[in-house]
Amino acid sequence: MDDVAESGLSRSAGEVEDHRITAELVQNWVVWRDAGNWERFRTIWHPDGRMMATWTQGGRDEFIWSARSPPPSRSCKAATANPGLPSAAPCLGRLAAPAGLALGGDAVRNFDESNITEAVLEKVRQAKGSRVRQVSGSLVRHLHAIVREIEPTQAEWGQAIEFLTRTGQTCTDTRQEFILLSDTLGVSMLVDAINHRLPGNATETTVLGPFYVQAAPEHGLGDDISKGMVGEPLLVEGTVSHTDGSPIAGATVDTWHTDGDGFYDVQGPVDLQGLAGRARFRTDAAGRFWFRSIVPASYPIPDDGPVGDMLKLQGRHPYRPAHVHFMIGHFGCETLVTHLFLAGDQYLDSDVVFGVKDSLIHSLEEQSAGETARGNWVDRPTKALRFDFVLAREQSANLAEAPAVAG
Ligand SMILES: [Fe+2]
Repeated sequence: MDDVAESGLSRSAGEVEDHRITAELVQNWVVWRDAGNWERFRTIWHPDGRMMATWTQGGRDEFIWSARSPPPSRSCKAATANPGLPSAAPCLGRLAAPAGLALGGDAVRNFDESNITEAVLEKVRQAKGSRVRQVSGSLVRHLHAIVREIEPTQAEWGQAIEFLTRTGQTCTDTRQEFILLSDTLGVSMLVDAINHRLPGNATETTVLGPFYVQAAPEHGLGDDISKGMVGEPLLVEGTVSHTDGSPIAGATVDTWHTDGDGFYDVQGPVDLQGLAGRARFRTDAAGRFWFRSIVPASYPIPDDGPVGDMLKLQGRHPYRPAHVHFMIGHFGCETLVTHLFLAGDQYLDSDVVFGVKDSLIHSLEEQSAGETARGNWVDRPTKALRFDFVLAREQSANLAEAPAVAG
């Protein structure tokens, strides 16, 4: 056991568990590329000087290797297939490496500020997928740069971990705190901008937001979707077309918005017996849609959780200007996720999620009872929101496969 003496480590007469020492010793032999799993190793010293390394999995130890001295070559690729294990160190039992791990030959030790980043980058460069390599490398570089810039205390780093933990714990089926975090840090809008470099006359996009509900109830054109929500009556009329102006029949038009007090159906204090202020429509043969509801209001994003705490610390208000959400899709087109913002709202210039674009700000019109300018009918005076959406063609779409659409 000269190698042990050289390493400066001592062994006991009985079984010893010391994860840090285990890592040190294993490094003398082979290097596991998944350094994050070091804590799952256990080293056992026997009275006769034999050392065994085990891999803890499923609550029990799986035997990895056993030896009295290191293999002669540190370039061995795996203990499982290492022909160089000295005879004095016979392999005992199962010698299979843990699934998903590969062995290399570079030492991993003695890290400090000057070399830890490059050491981690070297590890992630071994990922098989090029995108994984790219994303992992960028994550490591930027995360380490943040830490170097702000030099957090241990307590501050603990607070950061606790913040992310609370963010996850705050998520429910109807509340997505991580989307709020992404939105309020401007990341959602950045991702949206990168992914929607659209033709000039296509309707601009904005954030999805945390209140979208999949499988919204389908409604017929002209239906009232407010279902008891409080607020001023609203008529919404619009069309959906291609960038060349041709109408899109059968496009799906998902919409959702708050009530007149700024609450979505999934968060309001009133039992609305299901979803309200949200629906899915299909455009008619001329690409038209229309429905009735109530005028939405500006509202604070949910600020009683970690994201709200963050906003308070940053001195920011949690409000969004009043808007109606739309998600419009059709085969062969880029799905459009956007809002229509109501002109005059006090929060248009300080939207907490940075979602406002000039082209999406629209004024409400006054509509009297009777036939509308677009050929629909209302039985009482109402506010009206009219907008014509333009969808960009999907670059990779095979239009020959477009399904037949009933008018
Ligand atoms: Fe919203």
